[in-house]
Amino acid sequence: MQNILITGGAGYIGSHTVVALHEAGFRPVIIDNLSNSDARVLDGIAHITGTRPSFYRGDCRDIDLLRKIFTQEDIAGVIHFAAYKAVGESVQEPLKYYDNNINALLRVLIASQEHSAGQEHVFPFIFSSSATVYGEADTMPLTEETPRKPATNPYGNTKAIAEDILHDVVHAQRRANASLYATPLHAIALRYFNPIGAHPSAAIGENPHGRPENLVPYLVQAASGRREPLTIYGNDYPTPDGTGVRDYIHVVDLAEAHVAAMQYAFAQTDAPRFDIFNIGTGRGTSVKELIATFEEVTGVNVPHTIGARRPGDVAVCYADTTKAADILGWRARCSIADALRDAWVWEQRQHTTS
Ligand code: NAD
Ligand code: UD1
Repeated sequence: MQNILITGGAGYIGSHTVVALHEAGFRPVIIDNLSNSDARVLDGIAHITGTRPSFYRGDCRDIDLLRKIFTQEDIAGVIHFAAYKAVGESVQEPLKYYDNNINALLRVLIASQEHSAGQEHVFPFIFSSSATVYGEADTMPLTEETPRKPATNPYGNTKAIAEDILHDVVHAQRRANASLYATPLHAIALRYFNPIGAHPSAAIGENPHGRPENLVPYLVQAASGRREPLTIYGNDYPTPDGTGVRDYIHVVDLAEAHVAAMQYAFAQTDAPRFDIFNIGTGRGTSVKELIATFEEVTGVNVPHTIGARRPGDVAVCYADTTKAADILGWRARCSIADALRDAWVWEQRQHTTS
């Protein structure tokens, strides 16, 4: 059984990935400083898997703690989720974002290299990137070859910089004397599209602190009456109904993409290498369509109004997922209806238990 370090494993996507890795026969080890999560998520994971994962409360910028975990747990691979992710806040506090998102990545990479030196297997390093790196692209759907555009906010820029760091480290390994880097790195950047939903058990889900910025977390809170009506940000986009189109992916499908990427990395013999995969469904859904689907599957009305466009939003964004299907053998299986139903059950559970 391989021990996999999951940074940010108490968070939304991390917690679902911990469950998926456990089910696939890996042993997840979590480091999280709980800056955007709650230790109760460990109870939810234990409820689903029957096992409480090994958990270290601490910061990924703490290299001494990382060294201790790598040695104590004999880490064989990493999935690096830990980062801040609020776009608006990143514009107001760029240093906070560059410090956390870049320094955490650097420390985790350095500790991985130190620990794995001399080992014979490949060292998988999976990184949470985002479709935000494509910016306002000229063509749809987005393939991994679609050129990246300069980021429009510091959060997006941390994702682009992180991809470049991984590229440079792998490139250096490829050029170096093999003895210098006895364990070749297999870095994989997964460019997530729009993760939504919760585990069908409703034991874990998304728990944003404060007022949610993203559509589905806000929508479910507006539907339950916990928030003001949802504002649709613009109905004059060049899309069939005028509202923004995105590629919404169930978080359980997204979690399984990490398992597929981890298995793929361990199976390759030509590392060092750096791969990039789009992780979406390949289908675009508008804000209005999403509201209609939610109302249909839950029978609950979503109070909403039409507002101005949100600065920085693109009209349309959806993935070509051929590469992940062909190479990782992974594809999304859940529908938007599944994801919205699960998000609603999770919201109700939060509402009645908090
Ligand atoms: P999240 O905030 O729920 O999870 C991140 C976790 O990392 C949190 O539990 C937080 O406490 C922890 N953390 C942050 N900084 C840390 C540090 N320095 N040390 C230790 N722990 C730290 O976010 P999420 O939605 O699960 O996102 C996970 C990753 O995926 C992030 O890198 C995010 O940028 C990326 N991503 C998310 C989305 C999305 O829509 N949710 C889309 C694209 C990419
Ligand atoms: C946002 C981030 C992006 C990040 C992604 C996933 C911005 C500008 N971009 O993308 O960097 O990678 O989340 O975390 O914040 N909408 C409404 N009303 C709302 C909220 C959203 O109409 O209250 C609309 C948006 O205009 C968009 C769609 O819903 O058309 C999805 O929005 P959101 O969930 O915030 O995701 P993205 O904008 O795709």
